[in-house]
Amino acid sequence: MLPRAPSDKLAPMKAYRARLLRFDDASGQPLYDDDGLLVIGPDAQGRAVVRAAGAHAALIDRYPGVAVEDLRPFLIAPGFVDLHIHYPQTDVIGAPAAGLLPWLENYTFPHEARFADPVYARGVAEFFLDELARNGVTTALTFATSHPSSVNAMFEAAQARGLRFITGKVLQDRHSPDGVRDDTEQSLIDTEALIQRWHGVDRLGYAITPRFAPTSTPAQLRGAGELAAKYPSVWIQSHVAENLDEVRWAAELFPDSRSYLGVYDDFGLLRECAIYAHCIHLDRADREHMARAGAAAAVSPTSNQFLGSGFFDYQAADAAGMRYGLASDVGGGTSFSPFRTMLAAYVVGREGQTKPGLSLTPGQLWWQHTAGAARALGLDGVVGNLLPGCEADFVVLDPQATPLLARKTAQADSLDELLFALIVLGDDRVVQRTVVAGQSR
Ligand code: GUN
Ligand code: ZN
Repeated sequence: MLPRAPSDKLAPMKAYRARLLRFDDASGQPLYDDDGLLVIGPDAQGRAVVRAAGAHAALIDRYPGVAVEDLRPFLIAPGFVDLHIHYPQTDVIGAPAAGLLPWLENYTFPHEARFADPVYARGVAEFFLDELARNGVTTALTFATSHPSSVNAMFEAAQARGLRFITGKVLQDRHSPDGVRDDTEQSLIDTEALIQRWHGVDRLGYAITPRFAPTSTPAQLRGAGELAAKYPSVWIQSHVAENLDEVRWAAELFPDSRSYLGVYDDFGLLRECAIYAHCIHLDRADREHMARAGAAAAVSPTSNQFLGSGFFDYQAADAAGMRYGLASDVGGGTSFSPFRTMLAAYVVGREGQTKPGLSLTPGQLWWQHTAGAARALGLDGVVGNLLPGCEADFVVLDPQATPLLARKTAQADSLDELLFALIVLGDDRVVQRTVVAGQSR
């Protein structure tokens, strides 16, 4: 497509004065201005991007005539990125089960069968996207179901809202009940057709989506790996090493693979832009392998707590140099709110802690749900941050959203204290506004 002529530019320049949070590209450290200015305007293609971000006093004179909306004392921060979520499980949240496998069998699979109906799927997709916006999430890597129409429903809804959004048809051709089980050959034909229809259209991206190794035949995984090689810019998403019964089952089904993670590697599914949810019961060789491959873990702490799966080992992941980011994993996860997820991650970090001091700082937690998650997706410099050139997806947060938050944040003497107050006490009430591609949602 030709770049737009300047007269076609869609996004007028606009500036916001507020507290302003973003992250240093190289170090991931938070950058903060108590009195900041965020300037949004069109890039050469007419897309709304960040043109400048920094201290109000340093920037304001460079933008004469640009309308400035004064949002003080609110905090502008990058839109949250949810690295792993299931839109069809919106209504599965809170389904109790002894563990992952009975939860899938008794609640999740029967519910997902309903997504054969495209009208039902579209209704859930719209509700789901409303819920993401209410919680300040502007990009998500989401599972659909095994029904191609569930993918079309989600892409159509996300496209209408101008979202940067990634989803894919679930592949599950065995050990799955009627209603969700797909056919090996047809599932691969459908996946390729969906890639060709949607990948790279507007802000949308496709993810090849084997549910997890136990519900795919070797033939289906081989086909998925072939598609991943043929379309190197598509994402891959799956689950790995979440639950001990699941790990044992994978070992029985794939006795020739070195480990559960090794199954995905054996079929060409471990590479950059491959996101594996959970990654709890990995060994050192697995973690080093993930790091070398450039694949990333979607750390899903509320899900792991709810399903009793275990705890992500942050120290081992860091020692191996693995990439990771935060995810809600709704409906195993219990909340759409990034604040709930960050708080759960803080608790999980404490669990495996052997070094003195904080397990995870508030800046690290926030980074994992914004710029860090974007980096895991290969979208650093695109979303999850507010450096010049990033797409204009951001949230406006109210540090006084509840009486207790107002008391607590009034006493915050540092950025860490302000962010910790929001992480511990915040939820959807904090999110004043969610801006996608420069437009309020
Ligand atoms: N493993 C395979 N499918 C799923 C799922 O839907 N949720 C979670 N948490 N784990 C899975
Ligand atoms: Zn999941």
